[in-house]
Amino acid sequence: MITILNLKGLRINERNHLEIGGCDCVDLVQQYGTPLYVMDEDVIRNNCRTYKKALDKYYSGDGMVLYASKAFCTLAICRIAAQEGLGLDVVSGGELYTAKMARFPMDRVYFHGNNKTPEELKMAVELGVRRIVVDNAEELEVLDFIASECGRITEISFRIKPGIDTHTHEYIKTGKVDSKFGISMENGEAFDAVKAALAMKNVRLVGFHCHIGSQIFDIEPFKLAARVMLDFISEIKTRFGFEAQELNLGGGFGVRYVEGDESVDYDEFIKEVAAVVEDICKDRQISLPFLVLEPGRSIVAPAGITLYTVGNVREIKDVRKYVSIDGGMTDNPRYALYRAKYEILLANRSCDEPCEKVTVAGKCCESGDIIAKDVMLPRVKRGDILAVLTTGAYNYSMSSNYNRLPRPAVVLVKDGKSRIIVKRESYDDIIRNDVLPEDL
Ligand code: LLP
Repeated sequence: MITILNLKGLRINERNHLEIGGCDCVDLVQQYGTPLYVMDEDVIRNNCRTYKKALDKYYSGDGMVLYASKAFCTLAICRIAAQEGLGLDVVSGGELYTAKMARFPMDRVYFHGNNKTPEELKMAVELGVRRIVVDNAEELEVLDFIASECGRITEISFRIKPGIDTHTHEYIKTGKVDSKFGISMENGEAFDAVKAALAMKNVRLVGFHCHIGSQIFDIEPFKLAARVMLDFISEIKTRFGFEAQELNLGGGFGVRYVEGDESVDYDEFIKEVAAVVEDICKDRQISLPFLVLEPGRSIVAPAGITLYTVGNVREIKDVRKYVSIDGGMTDNPRYALYRAKYEILLANRSCDEPCEKVTVAGKCCESGDIIAKDVMLPRVKRGDILAVLTTGAYNYSMSSNYNRLPRPAVVLVKDGKSRIIVKRESYDDIIRNDVLPEDL
């Protein structure tokens, strides 16, 4: 039997085709071509609501769920997150500009990043984002200067390294001491930075942020992070008489990509984290902070699939069978980067019994250009349509034009209707910024 992971919004219809958001994938391919990213609007909205409802329900203080836009950042998703009442986490001038052009309310935007340029900081100050999450002492000074030039007092928080190790891929761990992100408590730099910020005129310290990593299935590291951060807040209160009003615990909640992955109950996660925060605040006699969470992947990953057309199917006798598709690491670099695993099925013959082990390869000039290694599929032939599931996060947002491949279109589906939210790139888009000097 094929598995579709009980993913919401997906089903196999009477034509033996995969359907997403009520749209037949074969019809979508006929209309829009391949490769094609497809995002289910209801799934995105429901995921936003799950987080928002859970925070409202379980936390007696105030708080806000931010959508971490790095997972998938376009005008349409910013608009959806805004409509669902979420805030937005941005990490670059480009993401901030996207938010601006989507008319995202700036009083719900948090600006992160470990090396924001002075231009980006100026843009954030001028646009009046709700919070600039300052990464380090040097950035603090640059920001204080920029804020004074702009004549605005800017509200900030600090990114703290809580020193927590998590069981996730080395590249997406972020909370350890040896991390390029944030300031450390152990060596005292966090205390120095707080002292410096409290003495500044153009920035106003509001709270603290941490993010321990991504694709984490275990609740314990999040609870531990809450504990460590609140201990820090309490210590700051004792040392400086300053009580933080905001605690941002970042994102990182795991997503089920393949059958072997656990499924995470996000509602339960929030419930437990909220309880820890309330207990510790009571114990330390500090007031309940404005609690911020920043899920990215878990909001959009399960909403997305990628559709490809199969080209060459090649069997290397006694070695491996390669099924080549018309996309690859350019639209999904996650296997190449993290050996990420995906569930794959034939969108045009979805119920056919898987009977052979194949490796799905992309079309780039790179041996590592693989989408999935050794997956079971029905006998695949040229012209079949492959669906790679759970590709809504960190696929489009990490795509590239390597080998000058145009980026695929993104289509939003809902109730059997589809709408383009990102156009397919053309060859003219590929050379758009190329310049041929006249004297060449
Ligand atoms: N907040 C901060 C400060 C972050 O750095 C991140 C992710 C998030 C929130 C959202 O985390 P999420 O809920 O999406 O796990 N490209 C990698 C993931 C990198 C995550 C970077 N930061 C991947 O494809 O797995």
